[in-house]
Amino acid sequence: MLEAGSDFVSGNDLAALLEISRVSVWSHLEKLKDDGFEFEALRNKGYRLKKTPSFIHPDLLNAYLWNNNTSLPVIYLEEIDSTNSETERQLANNHSTPFAVITGKQSKGRGRHGRVWYAEDRGNAYISLGFKPNFSPDLIRSFTPWIATELCHNLVLKYHIPLKIKWPNDLMIYGKKVCGMLAESRIDMDGIRDIVLGVGINISGNPETWPEELQQKATSLEAACKCSFNINEMVAYILSIMLNAYNQFINNTWRIAFEKNWPHYDILYNKEVNGFHGRMPVEGIAKGITEEGSLRLLLKNGKIELLDAGELSLSEPINNKLKIEHNV
Ligand code: BTN
Repeated sequence: MLEAGSDFVSGNDLAALLEISRVSVWSHLEKLKDDGFEFEALRNKGYRLKKTPSFIHPDLLNAYLWNNNTSLPVIYLEEIDSTNSETERQLANNHSTPFAVITGKQSKGRGRHGRVWYAEDRGNAYISLGFKPNFSPDLIRSFTPWIATELCHNLVLKYHIPLKIKWPNDLMIYGKKVCGMLAESRIDMDGIRDIVLGVGINISGNPETWPEELQQKATSLEAACKCSFNINEMVAYILSIMLNAYNQFINNTWRIAFEKNWPHYDILYNKEVNGFHGRMPVEGIAKGITEEGSLRLLLKNGKIELLDAGELSLSEPINNKLKIEHNV
């Protein structure tokens, strides 16, 4: 029915395809209604899909992945402490890679710099991918800026939304954060053992129900764009982008697209920024990033300092609405 779009699919065709009776088709559809699906049924025409669930539905997600030609095992959990922790546990149990762990609710979501990632809103998606890559640990710093660039670029192209990237890997909309990434890796003498790439993306969550402090700096795509998104289709799309981006990274075919696309989305470019680099206060004008993922900061003394993923904030808030035009 997803493939048929707005066309009807006959009960006979569905029954033949699934090798079940027409009555069974009907009773399966009735069950799916309890999960938030809505179907239109017309005598002599059959069924068509009218509405899909507004929360992550693992079967629907798999159907969209299949439509995207993405082959990725997905472990879906109604609720979990943290998808990054679950991915680590799966990797410790030798789960074959790559694979994804997805939930709509985390009780102990982790953010960067040891922060807590608020993950109570089921309209959002909390995703981790487990990889066993074969690249040098030196490249890890550019891994998440690259994934963020691909995610941003492809979401902008498909959904025409004014996303930006705040170094090193936050996705922003109208100056507020909608997506954060946390990559955790185990490295030993032989190199990288595994990487867990966690992404939290606020899709249809309602910021009004979030803690006050969070509402000041974060939002959801639906709240910011005042429109609705099909969460299962979007999550499947995000998974396929991340998997493609990962493959480009390990095949070393990512650099040209990275150099071309990062500047389009760089929200900090030419902005005065201040904050901390480790424990050192820093202040300067952001001048893009290096291929290694470090931020170029023009200091008051005219020198360029390269910053690793420290914490930066803007000296003045950005009116992102005025900046949309330099999205591609
Ligand atoms: C950040 O601080 O911006 C990074 C946030 C990363 C959150 C995601 S949600 C899915 C995955 N599981 C976690 O516990 N954290 C990451």
